Amino acid sequence: MDQTRRQLLTGITVVGAGALLVGCRNPGNSGGATNKENKQSEQADEAAAEISAAEDLMREHGILRRVLVVYRESAAKLRQDPNSVPLDALEKAAQLFRAFGEDYHEKKLEEAFVFPGVKKRPSATSVYVDVLTAQHVRGREITDYLLAVTAADKIPATKTEPFIGALESFARMYEHHAAVEDTIIFPAWKEAIGSQELDEASAKFEELEEEMFGEDGFDAALRRIAEIEESLGLANLGMFTAPAPAR
Ligand SMILES: [Fe+2]
Ligand SMILES: [Fe+2]
Repeated sequence: MDQTRRQLLTGITVVGAGALLVGCRNPGNSGGATNKENKQSEQADEAAAEISAAEDLMREHGILRRVLVVYRESAAKLRQDPNSVPLDALEKAAQLFRAFGEDYHEKKLEEAFVFPGVKKRPSATSVYVDVLTAQHVRGREITDYLLAVTAADKIPATKTEPFIGALESFARMYEHHAAVEDTIIFPAWKEAIGSQELDEASAKFEELEEEMFGEDGFDAALRRIAEIEESLGLANLGMFTAPAPAR
């Protein structure tokens, strides 16, 4: 447990997890968060106490999707110039995906609760579960690879293209994976287990999150991805606004 929490919370600095959390709450250390933003974050903390298991899973997908954007944008930059992306930022992104996405969201929640719940009732939906499980396994293989490559200072020339390919194919796979879970699997799970079991699962998910990451695992992950985006020049949402179409 401690190991997983460390993976999520460390890396930006070598200070302990607690100190990092304090640092992230300090506007001076988090890229200029305003009092208004801090208040919004506190309100988000309160709202978090009330969210259901399905919402919980979906907002976790939000963190993971932001890692996918980091992967895809980095792949495009690397293709232009193999030295244009700091590897340590990509390593931190892969560590976040490993700790929050694979070790927690996939293993502790989906594979332990959601998938077995959906499979209990054989239907057209339950056939998705085998594919989704295989994609979890493939994703972990790719994350192992990304962590191995990014541990070095530089990507060897012969490995640049396979590395870019791995970033892109991971993003392509997981984008659709999460979308299918959001739109098909989670609704089917909610229907299969009923409201009482869903309430129990909601409480259990919160307990597991706290057990793995401490009190505010989601918020820590959110701060983490924001720091990674900042370090890669991807923090400005407006930069993603599409250009007007040519007339
Ligand atoms: Fe999944
Ligand atoms: Fe998922």
